[in-house]
Amino acid sequence: MISIVGSGRVGSSIAFLCVANGVDDVLLVNRDKKKALGEALDIASAIPANSNFSIRGTDDYSEMIGSNIVVIAASVGSYKKDRTETMELQVKMIKDIAKQVKQCCPSAIILIISNPLDVLTYFFQKETHLSRFKVIGIASNLDTSRFRYYISETLSVPQSSISHALVLGEHGDSMVPIFSRVKVGGNPLFSMIDNRDSITSNVRNYWKKLRNYKSRSQFGIAKNTFDVINSILQKKEIHIPASIVLDGEYGERDVAMGVPVKINQNGVFEIEKIKLDDVEMSSLKKSSAKISNDIKSLHV
Ligand code: LAC
Repeated sequence: MISIVGSGRVGSSIAFLCVANGVDDVLLVNRDKKKALGEALDIASAIPANSNFSIRGTDDYSEMIGSNIVVIAASVGSYKKDRTETMELQVKMIKDIAKQVKQCCPSAIILIISNPLDVLTYFFQKETHLSRFKVIGIASNLDTSRFRYYISETLSVPQSSISHALVLGEHGDSMVPIFSRVKVGGNPLFSMIDNRDSITSNVRNYWKKLRNYKSRSQFGIAKNTFDVINSILQKKEIHIPASIVLDGEYGERDVAMGVPVKINQNGVFEIEKIKLDDVEMSSLKKSSAKISNDIKSLHV
């Protein structure tokens, strides 16, 4: 069963993708029971006729018992300028959720998507003492989708011609698009563009641009999360950048940030070591320091 904590736009979009693709039973958990029930009732109309699965809504965490995947998409408030604006409240929330999850499904793989993503991934793992390989922050792959989108738009090429695009580090203003590895039609991206800074700024500010049109992002993060869920349940590998607590990888420890990982049905089974150029390595260090400072700034 897939339990999704938080049945707002993002949580319910993930639930919809899981149900419409018939991948497993889904439980929507929300402190507002009516909200969870309403979204479940609506999504239930999307259950394919040949599906073996269903969807329920609840405000009772104990119903999560037996979940093999838990998605944390809950939030206690909205932010305008920076994903860390509600950090203190979000960390308090994630600690409460962590206690409940530890109690009812300690062997589940945890996918964190609430913001500030890296800080919450860190505190969830510290609070539960679950293996760091089973607490995965899903956002760098969303940033990578945006990076690929801007390359595609800048060069007027289909995304299928773009390979090895990656965004690492904070899911925030210090995120690091990795240009040095990208190939377009088999040729290095570097030979085709001279606007690395403007593409970087566009990727970092994509969510703010989106806010000019709608209250928050929904479908990109939902699809990126669904891809991981689907891969885990199909017992396949998925190689993406994702946030995980580091213990020496990329020279960082006691911090969670986006790094290239390989995920299978047991969680992260490898943190890939990839070559970065000096600019990228220095930017990644700055990004890690930014997240560490956020973590240390909290008195929770
Ligand atoms: C965004 C949110 C999911 O980047 O942080 O759209």
